[in-house]
Amino acid sequence: MSSTYRLAIVGTGGIAHLHAKSIREHVPGRFEIVAAVDPAADRLEDFRSAFGVERGYASIEELLAAEEPDLVDLCTPPGAHADGAVAALGADVGVVCEKPPALSLADFDRIAAASASSKGDFAVISQHRFGSAAERVRNMMTSGVLGPLAIAKCDTLWFRPEDYFAVEWRGRWETEGGGPTMGHGIHQIDTLLSIVGPWAEVVATAHRHRRATNTEDVSHAIVTLESGASVSITNSLLSPRETSHIRLDYDHATVELDHLYGYGDADWTVTPIEAHAEEVMGAWGAEPRGRRSGHGAQFAVLADALDAGAKPPVTAEDARRTLELISAIYASAFTGKPVRAGDIDPTSPYYQRMDGAGTPWPDRK
Ligand SMILES: NC(=O)c1ccc[n+]([C@@H]2O[C@H](COP(=O)([O-])OP(=O)(O)OC[C@H]3O[C@@H](n4cnc5c(N)ncnc54)[C@H](O)[C@@H]3O)[C@@H](O)[C@H]2O)c1
Repeated sequence: MSSTYRLAIVGTGGIAHLHAKSIREHVPGRFEIVAAVDPAADRLEDFRSAFGVERGYASIEELLAAEEPDLVDLCTPPGAHADGAVAALGADVGVVCEKPPALSLADFDRIAAASASSKGDFAVISQHRFGSAAERVRNMMTSGVLGPLAIAKCDTLWFRPEDYFAVEWRGRWETEGGGPTMGHGIHQIDTLLSIVGPWAEVVATAHRHRRATNTEDVSHAIVTLESGASVSITNSLLSPRETSHIRLDYDHATVELDHLYGYGDADWTVTPIEAHAEEVMGAWGAEPRGRRSGHGAQFAVLADALDAGAKPPVTAEDARRTLELISAIYASAFTGKPVRAGDIDPTSPYYQRMDGAGTPWPDRK
């Protein structure tokens, strides 16, 4: 039996429109957008009229005082995520929050503490976990048909010209929490970890080669996983031929994904070694199939989880593992030392801020 969940969208800029459109097109009847919130009256008005949303508010506090939604959908800039999530969870309202979930591990742990004592759950948007092909690769890894993973690559090579950073909150540690590692590569890093499992150690570099930002515009990381496999990760905003690429070399096959902002089944290739070709390709031909990655796919899983009374993905625990790796990439890059999972505890400057005690380059923004 599926229910219709009353959803309030907080922040009505670019991504909020995509959320509302995805809900309308992919999961009709499963969510009702009962209200929207934005201090910018013109954006709020545009959003309400585009999606026929009856009520609007200037702040999440006003929303929570006047409405009883099942869920608050945080589409605000990153710096407003933690306060919004803590306010909603404090009112026992569930939260679905755009990436990155918080500006720092300290902020994230405020959310996790609020979630632990709330009747509402906290879930993070990471829409590329939810394509059917990624689910199949996870199933194949669990069944053992691919053999153990040896090495992997995870590249987010995108291009953002200088004027992209004209938006006030972009390009600053205080409001975006980082450059392409935190803001862009996070999608692929999180999808990768959902397939390969927990990370153990990272060595990394970060660079500001071109843009007039305070954050990096490129980072490189070598990550050792708990399984012992090694992964190289590059995040760039300086790459004119843009691509999002994941490559996984298992003992029995190479699995590759090439896409940009979303993938379907056809964007993946599997190349088995001859001795395992039949069972690998047999498993690759199995279900599930035909579901593109994207917000619609994640909202469908969210509604199913709520119907089942289960914790909706991406859970706080999973989201923290990804945020901790990103924090460790910055910590390694700016200290020149390897960083292990668990090293960044509340005594570390990298717990409070992704740039820790500061970058090797001067501010430009
Ligand atoms: N998952 C994805 O693929 C994806 C893509 C783009 C952006 N994002 C994320 O979505 C979030 C929003 O990005 P965007 O591009 O839509 O930004 P945006 O600047 O276009 O919109 C943000 C909106 O939030 C409003 N706002 C600011 N503070 C607020 C507050 N305290 N309460 C309510 N509203 C507030 C602003 O007035 C603005 O209308 C960011 O975290 C971004 O990283 C995710």
